[in-house]
Amino acid sequence: MSPSLTVRRIAAHQGAVFRELRTASLREAPYAFDETLEDALLAAASSFDDTAAHHANSPATATFLLYTEGHPAGLVGAFVDEAALGRAFVHALWVAPAVRHLRGGELLVNAASQWLADHGASEIYAWIADENRTAMRFYERLGFGPTGDRRAMPAHVEVWETLLVRHVHNEEQDAPDTA
Ligand SMILES: CC(C)(COP(=O)(O)OP(=O)(O)OC[C@H]1O[C@@H](n2cnc3c(N)ncnc32)[C@H](O)[C@@H]1OP(=O)(O)O)[C@@H](O)C(=O)NCCC(=O)NCCS
Repeated sequence: MSPSLTVRRIAAHQGAVFRELRTASLREAPYAFDETLEDALLAAASSFDDTAAHHANSPATATFLLYTEGHPAGLVGAFVDEAALGRAFVHALWVAPAVRHLRGGELLVNAASQWLADHGASEIYAWIADENRTAMRFYERLGFGPTGDRRAMPAHVEVWETLLVRHVHNEEQDAPDTA
């Protein structure tokens, strides 16, 4: 029987869980992220506590955690682009290998997208390393498409990444025009 998967926004006290998932993701899939395991291991534990508290309460940035039978098993980050109205990003998505192909990644991205839409986003963007064919297929299956933008990864300039976008519906688009 498949394990049951749930997603919840990180809570302010979950700095240690955040550190554990982040370092596990960087250890297992270093090709996917614009940060190194060394960076994460060198960071003070208190910086994860600070990030968890911020991502639990901020109206503009959040982390969502995946649980399998109550155990943390994945994460995704989400933030509103404060420089461009309606634009938002998901990033740092990871699902533990033992629970892949069970729609945990989809649950995470959909929860993050819903939260971003509730905070005014109408376009959700994600940067994907070109060599990460699994993530490309995963995002395309969720309805993300090309924007035409590519760049060298800031922390690994030899690796190129591609920007994908998915359009979502938000409540502001439903509001009557008061102009
Ligand atoms: C990408 C990732 C998050 C997908 O998580 P997941 O929980 O397995 O994804 P889901 O079960 O929700 O969706 C699976 C779908 O994604 C695609 N997909 C996932 N893994 C795939 C693979 N190895 N090859 C091809 N397509 C794949 C398929 O369309 C698949 O559907 P299927 O299971 O019916 O074939 C996971 O593989 C992962 O953590 N990879 C390492 C980190 C990473 O690359 N993160 C993305 C950073 S941009």
